[in-house]
Amino acid sequence: MAAGGKAVYSFQEVSKHNDRKDCWLIIGGKVYDVSPFMEEHPGGDEVLLACTGKDATADFNDIGHTATAKELMAQYVIGEVDASTRPPKPAYRVLSEDARTKPDAASGGAWLTMLQLAVPVALLGLAFAAQNFAKTSTE
Ligand code: HEM
Repeated sequence: MAAGGKAVYSFQEVSKHNDRKDCWLIIGGKVYDVSPFMEEHPGGDEVLLACTGKDATADFNDIGHTATAKELMAQYVIGEVDASTRPPKPAYRVLSEDARTKPDAASGGAWLTMLQLAVPVALLGLAFAAQNFAKTSTE
């Protein structure tokens, strides 16, 4: 721990402090020990707990905390997070605008549509062929 807030912690180390009595947060690259603040936090302690083990910057900003909150948080800084220890981002893929508006194109639906058209046409052709065959064989 560093009173001057200069200590550098790994992401994993910070993640271990995920308890009501021992809660560390990562906001804007800095590490905050908010354990003494849990019960006072106007947003409740649950949200703070839910923000452990990850980078809580976006969550913190999304709330639109006031300047007062930002001043307040300064007293809980205990150091910085070592950026190189951040776990890689989850490998998920955001569907492109195209895939969302045209589900057919994304799921190979174009082929399905073709098949759906081709089958009745083929059946019709077969029916004609059979009719012709029947005609010629009775003549
Ligand atoms: C050191 C970190 C934090 C401090 C010092 C802090 C401080 C405060 C303060 C003073 C407020 C009252 C409103 C304001 O003045 O903005 C507040 C509200 C709130 N905070 Fe935090 N907060 C911290 C982190 C977080 C985090 C990580 C979350 C996660 C989402 C969060 C969620 C909320 C929510 C939901 C409210 C209630 C907003 C409302 O009811 O309008 N806070 N916080």
